Amino acid sequence: MSRVLTALQPSGILHIGNYFGAIEPMVKMQDAGNENFLFAVDYHAITVPQDPEELRKNLLFAAAAYLAAGVDPVKTTLFQQSRVPQHTELAWILNCVTNMGELERMTQYKDKARGKGESVTVGLFSYPVLMAADILLYNTDIVPVGDDQKQHLELARDLAERFNKRFGETFVVPGVQIRKTGARIMALDHPENKMSKSAPSPKGFISLMDDEKTVLKKMKSAVTDSGTVIEYDESRKGLANLMTIYNLVTGKSYEEIAAAYVGKGYGDFKTDLAGHVSAFLAPMQEKISKYLADPEELKRILEEGAEKARGIAEAKMVEVRKVIGVTL
Ligand code: ADP
Ligand code: TRP
Repeated sequence: MSRVLTALQPSGILHIGNYFGAIEPMVKMQDAGNENFLFAVDYHAITVPQDPEELRKNLLFAAAAYLAAGVDPVKTTLFQQSRVPQHTELAWILNCVTNMGELERMTQYKDKARGKGESVTVGLFSYPVLMAADILLYNTDIVPVGDDQKQHLELARDLAERFNKRFGETFVVPGVQIRKTGARIMALDHPENKMSKSAPSPKGFISLMDDEKTVLKKMKSAVTDSGTVIEYDESRKGLANLMTIYNLVTGKSYEEIAAAYVGKGYGDFKTDLAGHVSAFLAPMQEKISKYLADPEELKRILEEGAEKARGIAEAKMVEVRKVIGVTL
């Protein structure tokens, strides 16, 4: 049994990239009998401006979506990051063992900071340190994430090793788990960029809540190429991405998909794909709506998870405070 942990930002509606990159792998690890931790990182979300009312809504939506995706709060400790203040406490301590240069190299930071000049916050810069704290507090063995988080995970591993060297064995060095297919779903309108909720246009992502009509519209307008044969070819980025989504929602291999579209064109392929995606999302959407109808129950589940997380996190912090010399 391993300790498995992941977290997602409650910054808008989740998309199928988040689902396949992080949530589904987490549910599989839970069902395989591991000890799981899953939380909504609200303090990561506020590294860019958030409307407080929206943030509250997004937090409840995140909880509803995780539950609808199959997270069982008995097997998985499900909570909200800010309800476990040890995360920010450890982040401060880790800030003091992190070099500026390490954070300046982070590609996500560079992407998010580009063009923003002086208005970039210290929080955005230090974001990966809070993420390291999230992970190291729980003696995490495995972190399932999408491909874009690889560099942040490397930092968490480096910080654990550095801290252990300086203060003695304190943290488990976490392993990363990135799935083979689906770790980087690309934007439908720009298949050279990853699907992201912060994209300028919703045309690029399929949200977990998109209805049938919207999915069809987005699929129809997905960027492909002038080729005529439906087959998996990495250099045909748009088509390869759509075939990956097809594979993820139906379980059909690339060869099976290609065989089904011999002599057919993009029109049929996209229409069918939209149908499969909607059929995949429909039961989840129904469950999400059901969970959202009872916000008090969602809050109760999150608070129960936070209570359990605080116990584990505080035990780790007692160790950390002692080794760094602040416990008298
Ligand atoms: P976003 O970039 O859309 O704001 P987050 O940064 O909150 O999403 O990511 C939450 C989780 O979802 C992370 O594990 C991340 O790696 C994963 N993820 C995000 N986008 C994708 C994608 N396009 N394909 C696969 N996984 C993704
Ligand atoms: N930085 C991650 C993202 O943007 C979210 C995150 C925060 C996370 N803390 C984490 C992921 C801990 C895994 C483990 O997607």
